[in-house]
Amino acid sequence: MPAEVASAVSDPVGGPISVGGRLLATRYFLAPLAGYTHLAFRRALRELGGLGLATTDLVHATQLVEQKRQSLELIATDASDRPLTVQIFSGVTEHMVAAARWLQDRGYEAIDLNMGCPMAKVNGMGGGARLLCDADNACRLVETVVGSVAIPVTVKMRLGWDRDSISAPYLAARFEAAGIAAVTIHGRTRAQGFSGEVDREGIQAVADAVQAIPVVANGDVRSPDDALQMRRETGCDAVAIGRGAMLDPWIFRKLSDLEAGRPVREPTTDEQTGFLQRHFELMWEQHAERSCTLFRKFAAWYGARLGIPEDLELRLRMFQSMTEFGEILAEIGQRHGERRSPVATALVKVPNGPVERW
Ligand SMILES: Cc1cc2nc3c(=O)[nH]c(=O)nc-3n(C[C@H](O)[C@H](O)[C@H](O)COP(=O)(O)O)c2cc1C
Repeated sequence: MPAEVASAVSDPVGGPISVGGRLLATRYFLAPLAGYTHLAFRRALRELGGLGLATTDLVHATQLVEQKRQSLELIATDASDRPLTVQIFSGVTEHMVAAARWLQDRGYEAIDLNMGCPMAKVNGMGGGARLLCDADNACRLVETVVGSVAIPVTVKMRLGWDRDSISAPYLAARFEAAGIAAVTIHGRTRAQGFSGEVDREGIQAVADAVQAIPVVANGDVRSPDDALQMRRETGCDAVAIGRGAMLDPWIFRKLSDLEAGRPVREPTTDEQTGFLQRHFELMWEQHAERSCTLFRKFAAWYGARLGIPEDLELRLRMFQSMTEFGEILAEIGQRHGERRSPVATALVKVPNGPVERW
């Protein structure tokens, strides 16, 4: 029998939410995590229930229009992978416009503009969080992209470049006037990288700054209670969950159950191994043999979450074939729970060291 999970908090407003004319079934979204939130992971996650919206990893606008293989892989999708937003990045307005049009022409339903990425190679070309530093340029970019496509355009950004230049509330209001459909705000500055606490007051300031568009709060939500608390404290309309969804793929289902007044439960052992199998199967559909190496980076965090004994986790990081994967899975089924440490071997890696050197 699944274990019941106690919920200590009452719910803020739940139910569906409309973003740019799209009705999303829940207010809990998947935040993009480049290298992780690919098609197979999104599909496996959606099958568990409760996910309102997923966004692709960030895609280089120019390379997309040039149809580079890596970019096409990032936007790979199918009918079960809905609703989906494609996130693009560049510092050059014309490149963003070209990518947005290219996506619209191919039937994609919504576009998100990245204004949060802290990485030097993205900031160096004027993209990601660098856009937060020049409000007029950022507004021109947003206005031009919005004016160039009929599908909804959203923005995901940080609070500002550093704590002396908190620009998000001002920019969110101007972006709303320029016609964006929603804004996602990660409650850290670029200078913070992924360290320090998420500034919920900073997120609230963004929620207060806009008139009508939904504000999606993001950062460090690891449990259903974290998500509800984020909503209560910031007044945001929805929450985007990144690393928390990797550590607990059932977080969206739990939130739906909470909102519907259903008992919230942990996944059974069979559900846990079933998820592992399903994720790999879906990866295989897209990448065939390459899945064996692509799957390795997931083993470390699946290990703790899914109660996989350490020696089997190690084998999950080295297997070479579908047959070998099946053998490991069968053994996990028999020895589930033997794991000694509840701590993930390696959590989702974030860049570290001084942010100036990223
Ligand atoms: C490995 C990794 C990759 C990320 N890739 C993206 C990305 O492609 N686009 C984006 O907007 N944010 C990206 N982010 C930021 C997350 O979407 C999110 O804003 C951040 O991790 C905080 O939320 P969380 O604590 O729920 O993960 C990435 C973060 C990590 C750790």
